[in-house]
Amino acid sequence: MLIKRRGDVPTSEITDQGVYLRRREFIQAAGLAAIGAAAGGLLTAPRTARAGEKIHAGAMKSPFSTAEEPTSYKDATTYNNYYEFGTDKESPATHAGKLKTRPWTLMVEGEVKKPRIWGVEDLLKKMSLQERIYRMRCVEGWSMVIPWVGFALGDLIREAEPTGKAKFVEFVTAYQPDNMPGLRIPALDWPYVEGLRLDEAMHPLTILAVGMYGEVLPNQNGAPIRLVVPWKYGFKSGKSIARIRFVERMPQSAWMKASPQEYGFYSNVNPEVDHPRWSQANERRIGEFLKRKTLMFNGYADQVASLYTGMDLKKNF
Ligand code: MTE
Repeated sequence: MLIKRRGDVPTSEITDQGVYLRRREFIQAAGLAAIGAAAGGLLTAPRTARAGEKIHAGAMKSPFSTAEEPTSYKDATTYNNYYEFGTDKESPATHAGKLKTRPWTLMVEGEVKKPRIWGVEDLLKKMSLQERIYRMRCVEGWSMVIPWVGFALGDLIREAEPTGKAKFVEFVTAYQPDNMPGLRIPALDWPYVEGLRLDEAMHPLTILAVGMYGEVLPNQNGAPIRLVVPWKYGFKSGKSIARIRFVERMPQSAWMKASPQEYGFYSNVNPEVDHPRWSQANERRIGEFLKRKTLMFNGYADQVASLYTGMDLKKNF
């Protein structure tokens, strides 16, 4: 994220991903993959989203969705940051096919009354999926609009019943040395970790995404389940989450450890606080030529500014 910057990105190609089928079909597809994995058959081959693995956004169109034009599917799935597969933008799409996404468990642990290891299929049966079209802003200065399919993280948190000691939530992502070539490079302290304050995690805008563009999440975008926090820089949205841990103390994220003077815990999109090496005032929407102004909290100020009342956002960057 901070190491390489590219001037060129693929031009926008609007792909029609409009055929949304029912969530049941996604669960069936996921179940089939799990059966395939158990049988050691062809279905064990790691996969990215493809025809037949549609995921229904449901009748539930979220009121939080932006009306802006989504970024092309091609750009959103080939211009990625997923350092476990390499530090350039193309490597995730090239190498993430190796990620083993089934079977997948999500451990919910720490300061909760009901710790649990969820099978991802069970979790999907329990949670109600929505389509959320969100603006996403990367700290590097580019942005996209992504139609996510996911559920409110708050719903999962309520299931877990945090204790009074739970003040923060830590997200630990997948660590698969055999499948992730990037782990051989000490670019970050592996596994990749992110963190939120409990109230940020409970905020209705915060989701766990399992799909995008009406399809199962491609591996390079964080399959099978990733965090999405649209008012924060993209790196807060950890991919391929394996563990969610409720803790009393502020977690140290992978980026804070790598470069604390550049990447703080909050990492709210803030055009008034420059990155030490570049301005955050403008951004380039992938697929567009001209830059646009970056909005406070990425345009979600009405919903989230109150979370930070009284805080000095220059210090708490
Ligand atoms: N999650 C993991 N596990 N590993 C990563 O390297 N990169 C982060 C974030 N989540 C990253 C991650 C960064 S820097 C960004 S900008 C976003 O994922 C990019 O998400 P996208 O590729 O879906 O746009």
